[in-house]
Amino acid sequence: MTRSLEEHARNWDLRHGDFADNDFLYDVYSVMRRDAPFAHTDSPFLSATPGGAWVATRYDECYRILQDWQNFSSNPTPEGAEQLAGDLVITMDPPRQQSFRKVLNPYFSPARMKALRPQIREETDRLIDRFIEAGNGDLAQVAWRQPGIVFFKYLLGMPIDDVPLCIELTDTALNGDTDETRMGAWGSLYQHLHDAVSTRTTQPPRDDMIDVLLNAEIEGDKLPFEMVVANAMLLVQAGLETTASAMSFAFHYLATHSDERNRLIDEPEILPRAVEEFVRFAGSIHGIPRTVATDVELSGHAFCPGESVIVNYAAANRDAAQFPDPDLCVLDRQANRHLGFGAGVHRCLGSNLARLEFSVGLEQVLSRMPDYALAPGTDATFHGNSITRGYRTIPVVFTPGSRRT
Ligand code: HEM
Repeated sequence: MTRSLEEHARNWDLRHGDFADNDFLYDVYSVMRRDAPFAHTDSPFLSATPGGAWVATRYDECYRILQDWQNFSSNPTPEGAEQLAGDLVITMDPPRQQSFRKVLNPYFSPARMKALRPQIREETDRLIDRFIEAGNGDLAQVAWRQPGIVFFKYLLGMPIDDVPLCIELTDTALNGDTDETRMGAWGSLYQHLHDAVSTRTTQPPRDDMIDVLLNAEIEGDKLPFEMVVANAMLLVQAGLETTASAMSFAFHYLATHSDERNRLIDEPEILPRAVEEFVRFAGSIHGIPRTVATDVELSGHAFCPGESVIVNYAAANRDAAQFPDPDLCVLDRQANRHLGFGAGVHRCLGSNLARLEFSVGLEQVLSRMPDYALAPGTDATFHGNSITRGYRTIPVVFTPGSRRT
């Protein structure tokens, strides 16, 4: 490591090369949580905020900020707003945000998600079929492709041929090396969705999310076209990289912990708990900002209007004050009130979908490749410098099986 834990904790910079290591970042979070209720960063990951931002890393403060949208607004700072393509559900406050959620929520209801299970199983099987006969393959290809295919085909209403391009653009927009590269990728993703939504305005309506956005009325007004595109883009970003990273972590963890893999096979009833634990332990987001709206004090810290505070869900999820043995992945963890999907009014819109994709991904991999393990002599590729961290390659070997689709 090029800097000590304390140096990193004084000025947290998620893009720093030291955080390519999976565990080191969590060691830094321990120091941040221990030292003060709010740490600081000069270089927030998602937006360039003059003066940097405060960072909440303890469970209690994160939870209280998420519940208090009046004082901690989701409206971005003026500099943050400049980087956005428009008004997004995630950057609004109630009551406008709540009326937008009323339009979107039915598309992610538990009943609708349950009905999707057979299709998700089939799409997952199709991806596994690509290598099942060979006895070796890359499980990251399942983790990264499955959420995109499912979301584009069954909810959003975009061609699945667009999935690889949208994954690549989303990834570069978040993780590209320079500001120019990142902004260029945002622009290309926006243009791509702009063209896709434009085409849809001339076609007969279908029952999908693009039509929902095109016809949505928020507080009595239809959404301007740019807002439809910007929110479609938010859904693409929010739905792909998050679930893919979380699932890639679980596939890798089970590839390197054969006892845990066998336990999940022998005790399938603990799978729902295991999914929650994977999201808590390594699948949650490493920070989304709030803007301080009024003079407010929290845990002895006085915040001023206009300041930016990052809620670090991943750090909160390792807080020993909330979770016994927080640095252990306990597959059947009880009382797991993690913040992986957020809390309060902005709680994740797609959590039911993410859980379903994740469960089906695990079920199909474990039932079709029950003895899978990391391929000897190879390494998985981990990408750690991002608000969603995960594996980009997971080379595995297993007893070959037969195709299903
Ligand atoms: C493991 C996967 C996922 C994780 C860890 C995750 C995490 C989160 C978190 C922490 C928030 C709260 C943001 C805030 O407090 O401002 C959020 C909001 C959101 N998520 Fe997810 N998410 C996941 C999957 C998905 C999926 C699959 C979709 C949609 C297809 C989605 C769509 C959204 C949207 C639209 C919001 C904004 C909701 C609002 O502002 O009211 N997410 N997500």
